[in-house]
Amino acid sequence: MSVIVENVCKLYRNQTALDNISFSVETGSIMGILGPNGAGKSTLLRIITGYLTPTSGTIKINGLKVDPDNLEIKRMIGYLPENNPLYPDLFVREYLRLAAGFYKIPNSKKRIEEIIDLTALNSEAFKKIGALSKGYRQRVGLAQAMLHDPALLILDEPTSGLDPAQLVEIRQLIRNISSDKTVLISTHIMQEVDALCDKVLILNHGKVAALETPEKLKTLSIQKIRTFLIEFKEEASFEIFDPIEGLTKCEQISTQKFLLYSADVDLRPALFHLAVKKSLTLLTLQEQGSTMEHSFLEIVK
Ligand SMILES: Nc1ncnc2c1ncn2[C@@H]1O[C@H](COP(=O)(O)OP(=O)(O)OP(=O)(O)O)[C@@H](O)[C@H]1O
Ligand SMILES: [Mg+2]
Repeated sequence: MSVIVENVCKLYRNQTALDNISFSVETGSIMGILGPNGAGKSTLLRIITGYLTPTSGTIKINGLKVDPDNLEIKRMIGYLPENNPLYPDLFVREYLRLAAGFYKIPNSKKRIEEIIDLTALNSEAFKKIGALSKGYRQRVGLAQAMLHDPALLILDEPTSGLDPAQLVEIRQLIRNISSDKTVLISTHIMQEVDALCDKVLILNHGKVAALETPEKLKTLSIQKIRTFLIEFKEEASFEIFDPIEGLTKCEQISTQKFLLYSADVDLRPALFHLAVKKSLTLLTLQEQGSTMEHSFLEIVK
């Protein structure tokens, strides 16, 4: 299921939310959409689903032009909107039955149980949606989006507000289900893009600011500031780092913990040898943040 976006503009009164956006998504790939608040991510995703019409430009899904009345295209799309709107008073199965009705899914009872299994909702499926935790509500949203087995999944911040454990699980779930689907996912989490996506689209003020693979994106940062966290079991003073080559700045967090900065030098080998030389026990030696984050910040600056 390929997606081709051509010269899409969206104006809200006199405000340009999307400004001449063009890109394509290959069949079977996962595209991540990044961008600061208000960049136009949700607007773009709504337009691709056919929920909103663009002011100008076209979207083609598998060669078919998207328009709000084209039911054939709607059947191919699963959509998890931003903030995952659900009916809190419905029971999980009741809600999924309602969604199955919209899509006229044959043998829906069996399919609902399948999707409950797939999204690991079994233990909570007897509850009302309003009684579920945020992570489980998110799973209900994903279950609803995938119920009719769409070839194209559009997920608007599917992992926002999840705890770290749920985040890993939902990400794994998206990875599993995406093996035979085309996925468009918007997020603010860089690691998510790194872990899931084949391509990254960065939107800024409604324009395409970058369209790269995650690997390429990491190499785009000009400043190349790298940050390392080091923690010893024993107390140390920051003067011990003076001999480290490539060190540009040192911040002391506690008597045992320091943040060290370099301009594109991996300080970890030298720090390891320093700890050995000074007979200090290393508890942590870790690079902080990612170069992707630096690239992103430079692109949207
Ligand atoms: N229905 C609307 N009427 C008027 N302006 C709108 C409407 N929907 C979105 N906008 C504006 O369009 C711009 C893009 O909004 P959009 O929701 O697409 O951003 P976003 O990238 O999804 O942001 P976020 O990261 O906060 O979710 C914003 O300036 C927003 O205020
Ligand atoms: Mg949004």
